[in-house]
Amino acid sequence: MNRKLTQIKQTMSKTKITVNSNGSLKVEGDFEIADKTGALYDLGGREIISICRCGLSKNKPFCDGSHKGHFEHDAVAFSLPPKK
Ligand code: FES
Repeated sequence: MNRKLTQIKQTMSKTKITVNSNGSLKVEGDFEIADKTGALYDLGGREIISICRCGLSKNKPFCDGSHKGHFEHDAVAFSLPPKK
């Protein structure tokens, strides 16, 4: 890989989503969150946010901790079948 392309890749922002066991999706990096109309949520400057995936949060789409003791899913990475 040439040096310039390597530098560009190193400076590009990246988003990482972590599937937490028994809880939320942690989103960090360069991202924005929009509603169905495209309006952006004001994240108050947060660079890390947790998205509810249990359905119990009173602050959807954000996690408010309501999953604790009420949602079980052991998050283990796997491969999806090839796209059709
Ligand atoms: S995942 Fe935390 S409240 Fe739903």
